[in-house]
Amino acid sequence: MEILVEKRVGILGGTFDPVHLAHLQLAKSAYEQFQLETVIFLPAGDPPHKTNRQITPAYRRLEMLKLCLKDYPQFRISEYEIEKQGYSYTAETLEYFTQMNPEVQYYFIIGADSLFNMDTWYCPERCLSKAVFLVGNRQERAEEEIDKQIHYLTERYGGSIEQIQMPGMEISSSKVRDLLSKGQDASHYLAPGVNEYILKNHLYYKGPTENLTMAVKKKLPAGRFLHTLGVVEAALPMAAKFGCDAQKVKTAALLHDIAKPLTTAEMVDICQKAKDPVTPDELAREKVIHAKAGAIIARDEFGITDQEILDAIRYHTTGRPGMTMLEKIIFIADFIEPGRTKAPNLDRIRREAMLDLNRCVCMIARDTLQYLQESKAVVDQRTVDTYEYYKSITNMI
Ligand SMILES: [Fe+2]
Ligand SMILES: [Fe+2]
Repeated sequence: MEILVEKRVGILGGTFDPVHLAHLQLAKSAYEQFQLETVIFLPAGDPPHKTNRQITPAYRRLEMLKLCLKDYPQFRISEYEIEKQGYSYTAETLEYFTQMNPEVQYYFIIGADSLFNMDTWYCPERCLSKAVFLVGNRQERAEEEIDKQIHYLTERYGGSIEQIQMPGMEISSSKVRDLLSKGQDASHYLAPGVNEYILKNHLYYKGPTENLTMAVKKKLPAGRFLHTLGVVEAALPMAAKFGCDAQKVKTAALLHDIAKPLTTAEMVDICQKAKDPVTPDELAREKVIHAKAGAIIARDEFGITDQEILDAIRYHTTGRPGMTMLEKIIFIADFIEPGRTKAPNLDRIRREAMLDLNRCVCMIARDTLQYLQESKAVVDQRTVDTYEYYKSITNMI
């Protein structure tokens, strides 16, 4: 007679912002104590667009998870909720997993805090019908208190909930973020690779650019500020992918449209005073003046001295031949940020942004020229030069 061996798989969901050593310990303890075949780390997706920008983008949380788990082949990562996007209810996620793998008995791992707010979950009975719940207590609550809550929940909703015995660890993502925001060391709480990644990419540190964000917010109308944050959001993955300094990218992205709320006369005046007067050609194409005036404001009001940042602001609308990587990233991010929806070929251009910056610049310049011609607006010579240059170096038609 064939003996049916049940597969036992743990799922550890969370935002993992960032993943820390207590997450790892929770997975290890559950894995050992319940003889699980694996534990799947399930990072939550990005919140729906424009509702909450406080959470670190999913691609970064995912990178950190990969670094954290690279020496633990028994653990896996599922991108299910990230790919699904928007908010995922645990009940729906568990139903998806059990439907896909009916032969698996799932063990859904939660912290003690979640156990005490399970009453507020969406359909707790549906969750409990699909998986055994395992509660990790990092010694923040007494065992009897947890037992009482387990008894109450299983009486009310059915299912099965068990406790994971694990060492007490006073770590939380918010505590880690708090330390890092002040520039303090959090390496005791993180896997070494994760700590390095955070420092290299200036995650969580609320240093100069955090103050800059607040200063920019005061200067821009709400819609323009949202667009600006969108440009930051679009630019950082390119910076990470192609190895461009994240701090510089963020600074340029934050300031790129800083002159936008001004009138043309005010912008012309700023350029005049900076002895960088607006040419008649530029005056005919009002849209490009804000880029030039923006670079001057960034330098004179915000004290930016890095020429590369100033040039990225100055050429963000037209581009120019031979741009630096930073210039290309800002030029592209301005076009593809998540708030942009109207331009044709957006999907293709967004894909190209993570593959080849030169080809992406070429595509944007081409589509911009086409748009200007179709709408009978003045065609900018610098955009033409940008297009011709990037067409020639990428062999694009
Ligand atoms: Fe702009
Ligand atoms: Fe912009």
